[in-house]
Amino acid sequence: MAKTLKSFSGADVLITGGLGFVGSNLAIELAKRKANVTIIDSLRPDYGGSMFNIEPVKDRVDVKVQDLNDFGKTCEAVRGKDFIFHMASQQSHVLWRDEPYSDLDDGIRATVVLLEALKKTKSEPRLVFGGTRGEYGRQKSPVNENAVPNPLGFYELCKLFSGRACELYSRTYGFEFVWARLTNIYGPRSSIKTNASGVVNWFVRLALEGKKIPLYYKGGIARDLLYAGDCVQALLLLADCAEANGEIVNVGSGKPVTLLQVAEKIVEAAGSGSIEFVKADAKRDKQEVGDAFLDVGKLERLTGFRQETGLDEGIRLTANYYKKYLQKYV
Ligand SMILES: NC(=O)c1ccc[n+]([C@@H]2O[C@H](COP(=O)([O-])OP(=O)(O)OC[C@H]3O[C@@H](n4cnc5c(N)ncnc54)[C@H](O)[C@@H]3O)[C@@H](O)[C@H]2O)c1
Repeated sequence: MAKTLKSFSGADVLITGGLGFVGSNLAIELAKRKANVTIIDSLRPDYGGSMFNIEPVKDRVDVKVQDLNDFGKTCEAVRGKDFIFHMASQQSHVLWRDEPYSDLDDGIRATVVLLEALKKTKSEPRLVFGGTRGEYGRQKSPVNENAVPNPLGFYELCKLFSGRACELYSRTYGFEFVWARLTNIYGPRSSIKTNASGVVNWFVRLALEGKKIPLYYKGGIARDLLYAGDCVQALLLLADCAEANGEIVNVGSGKPVTLLQVAEKIVEAAGSGSIEFVKADAKRDKQEVGDAFLDVGKLERLTGFRQETGLDEGIRLTANYYKKYLQKYV
């Protein structure tokens, strides 16, 4: 049983990247709990944000369409907040091969602007940073938080730097901070415009369109996958957990599953699509971490977190969502 969650009722909460996948699911849950939710999102067209994502609560949240890099506006937005969930970032792990500057601008620089805004306004919220499993790089799984990070891509390297910057500012300026390292998250409200979106959601789109799901390495690579609703619960539990202050905490299911198994479940849930095995190119080989799943013992010990939506149910819910709203996401 998860420990009782603080209601967050009446809390002033800022979500950066709140029109994106994880951020909008958080915003919906927090608005339902009667928190006062403010969202900052740049809505850069090639990123994952959309106004449609917050449709169920659009009249109950304050949306500021702005770049986090706008220091003046970000200072205004952070003032007086009890909690800040920092989810804004460039989030494709392959974009850097074409251009690395978006990771610098919307990963590192945007994070430093947010931190400088906290400093300037003397704000002391609890900051929850959305980091990534990818910061660990190639390690023996299950990976716990003591592993020495060794990112294999520039996106992951920038996330690692951003997390370290949050840690440094929180120690220096005295606000509370939790570094959540997220595994592969899937579920409603992720962009599925390109294959740079999360692997499960991309596979769901291919299946719904009756296309072939391409699997590298015969689909034998294992991941742990976490449904968006469970990710939101974990982030809220961490935001509410005094013992998590200053900690890095893995957020995942801790249950490995191969991508072949995942693809088979998706084809079944969609009622269409098929699977094909394809050969990986040299670039992919270099960045591929192999089997990668998280040890989530620390999250469970600190917060009492328990995954509620298993993979079959999560895939069914995801496929149903995109069956209904596919045109909003393609
Ligand atoms: N989805 C996953 O599986 C996953 C896994 C590990 C880590 N993460 C991390 O979680 C966070 C959320 O990921 P997501 O999947 O929701 O991504 P997403 O792309 O759906 O959402 C990110 C949002 O941030 C916004 N944004 C980017 N740069 C901005 C800026 N400079 N100013 C204002 N807004 C900006 C984008 O417009 C977008 O709406 C990211 O930091 C990502 O790195 C996600």
